[in-house]
Amino acid sequence: MDHATLGRIYDGYARIYDRLFGRVFDEPRRRAVAQLAAKPGERVLEVGVGTGIALPMYPQHADVVGVDYSAGMLREAQACLGRSPRPRTWLLRMDAMRMAFPDNSFDALMAAYVVTAVPDCHRVVAEMARVCRPGGRLLLVNHLQNRNRLVAFGQRLLCPLTRRLGWRTDLSIEDVLRGSSFVPVSVQTMPPLGLWYLIECRNDKPA
Ligand SMILES: C[S@@+](CC[C@H](N)C(=O)[O-])C[C@H]1O[C@@H](n2cnc3c(N)ncnc32)[C@H](O)[C@@H]1O
Repeated sequence: MDHATLGRIYDGYARIYDRLFGRVFDEPRRRAVAQLAAKPGERVLEVGVGTGIALPMYPQHADVVGVDYSAGMLREAQACLGRSPRPRTWLLRMDAMRMAFPDNSFDALMAAYVVTAVPDCHRVVAEMARVCRPGGRLLLVNHLQNRNRLVAFGQRLLCPLTRRLGWRTDLSIEDVLRGSSFVPVSVQTMPPLGLWYLIECRNDKPA
């Protein structure tokens, strides 16, 4: 799906997004941020920050930059910061497939429910690897193709429908990381229903 269509879809969701996809998907977000374990002074990038729903989950000492393509979602993220102020947090409208950061700008990255909601996940993962320092961490939270073949079949069947809603269901962990310098160091299934994954990766690109 192209940028313009996805932008329209997520602008449309912005005001109701937290009610639709908030609490039910919070546990994996919370666990990803906890596993990221941002230390003071570390630079964190949240890609596809959306309505900023995960921002209050970061420790106050973390420097967090959030980027998103949808102006509507970012407006909600700004409002979220107004409700729960954080000292060192920046929100930028940016295409995750062409980020305006120099190489190695961040120590750790988080992308929750994003790689299946972008026009080209490989370009996003390649960009995340470029802006992440060597040895840096990436925490991915996503529904990805299940290892159970029957469930995976169902996910592939649903994909034409979910694409219209703004995400796809036919990508596997291997598809997403193929060709990138991110190496998975842990993969955990997550609620709801164990159909979601929390994947921690290390950026194995040369220093
Ligand atoms: C399903 S939402 C996830 C939002 C949030 N991370 C969460 O935990 O709920 C996907 C987000 O990715 C954003 N997005 C889609 N394509 C993008 C792109 N090319 N660059 C940056 N953000 C993008 C959408 O605007 C939307 O906010």
